[in-house]
Parts: sequence; C-alpha cells; structure tokens
Amino acid sequence: MGVESNQLCLTCHAEMRPGMFRDDAHSEHPLSPIVNAEQKAAVKDMNTRLGPNDQLICLSCHKLHHGKGDRFLLARELKDGQMCMQCHSEKNTMLGSSHDLRQKFPNERTGSA
Ligand code: HEC
Ligand code: HEC
Ligand code: HEC
Repeated sequence: MGVESNQLCLTCHAEMRPGMFRDDAHSEHPLSPIVNAEQKAAVKDMNTRLGPNDQLICLSCHKLHHGKGDRFLLARELKDGQMCMQCHSEKNTMLGSSHDLRQKFPNERTGSA
C-alpha cells in the first residue's frame, strides 16, 4: 500500500483500537482535514508528509523510523505541547492560563496512555 493516505495504517489500527479513528467530531484527532499554511510548514519542518490536496494523514505526525518522541513513533516531542502548538499556535493563549490543565494536574494525561 502507498504512504499517501491513512489506509496503510488503518488496515491494522482500525481493528486494534476500534473507535479511535472515526470520521466524526468525536475521534481523537480529525481524520484527513486540509492543512492551513502554518500546518503545512510544520509538516515540512518535521520532514513528514501530507496526503493528496494537502490532507493531514497519519504520516504527517508519525514517523516510523527515526521518530523524535520517546514513544508513539512521533515526528516531534510531545513535551510542553510543542508537537501540537506548531500547528495550533492560535491556541497559545491557553498556555499558563487556568485552562492549562498542566497547572493543576501536572502528572495527568488524557486517554489511555
Ligand atoms: C500490519 C499491521 C500494522 C500496520 C500496517 C501498522 N501498524 Fe502500527 N502497530 C501495529 C502493532 C501490532 C503495534 C503494537 C501494538 C501494541 O503493542 O499494543 C503497533 C503500534 C503502533 C504505535 C504505538 C507505538 C508505541 O510506542 O506505543 C503507533 C504510534 C503506530 N503503530 C503507528 C502506525 C502508523 C502511523 C502506521 C502507518 C504508517 C502503522 N502503525 C501501521 C501494527 C501495525
Ligand atoms: C495530529 C497528529 C497526529 C495524527 C494526524 C495521527 N496521530 Fe497518532 N498519535 C499522535 C499523538 C500525539 C499520539 C500520542 C497520544 C498520547 O500521548 O496518548 C498518537 C498516538 C497514536 C497511537 C498509539 C495510541 C495508543 O494509545 O496505543 C497509534 C496506534 C496511532 N497514534 C496511530 C495513528 C494512525 C493510524 C493515524 C492515522 C489514521 C494517526 N495516528 C494520526 C498524533 C497523531
Ligand atoms: C501537522 C499539523 C497538526 C498537528 C501536529 C496537530 N494538529 Fe490538530 N489539527 C490539525 C488540522 C489540519 C486540524 C483541522 C483543521 C483545524 O482545526 O485547524 C486540526 C484540528 C484539531 C482539533 C479540532 C479543532 C476543532 O475546532 O474542531 C483539535 C482539538 C486538535 N487539532 C488538537 C491537537 C492536539 C492536542 C495536537 C497535539 C497532540 C494536535 N492537534 C497536533 C493539524 C495538526
């Protein structure tokens, strides 16, 4: 299978974690949205790839070889939100605010991990 879509990864992972990848608002991250200019630059910077028509795909964030995160085969460290903020810089007013859950719950994580 080619690496231009989510299909390669979903062939196994949709079976392994049913519900994690759904094409609706309740998935853990939107599947295949079109990236904006900032997000496109972040993908270039991480040296990952986009799908057709600049869609965000699994391999935009995940790097199966030589990943940066110590877990999850990620293309950038998760620490301090750097993975997310490179594509969502408009959310940077959250950092340090009372909505920044790291203040009250520094050791908690969302989800199963
Ligand atoms: C042939 C089946 C298969 C395919 C295809 C596949 N994976 Fe996996 N993947 C696995 C298995 C099995 C594990 C280990 C699951 C476990 O330990 O619970 C895994 C684990 C992972 C993990 C977790 C690693 C960790 O540190 O916990 C990530 C992230 C991941 N795969 C991403 C991907 C991505 C991105 C793709 C597409 C490029 C992909 N996988 C394609 C079978 C597959
Ligand atoms: C926007 C970036 C991004 C995209 C796109 C993305 N992931 Fe991930 N993925 C992450 C991050 C960040 C984590 C670590 C989550 C955590 O800390 O719990 C992760 C974790 C995972 C894991 C491990 C989860 C676990 O708890 O075992 C798997 C498997 C995985 N991703 C597969 C995929 C597949 C398959 C796709 C495409 C359908 C995909 N990811 C798309 C960022 C992304
Ligand atoms: C490579 C770029 C990229 C990365 C990295 C990334 N995202 Fe996204 N994210 C997108 C795109 C594209 C969308 C869909 C369009 C949009 O809302 O900007 C999106 C949408 C979202 C949404 C839905 C927003 C809404 O209004 O419905 C959330 C929540 C989100 N991302 C959280 C995260 C988190 C948390 C991380 C870090 C684990 C992350 N993103 C990492 C590109 C990215």
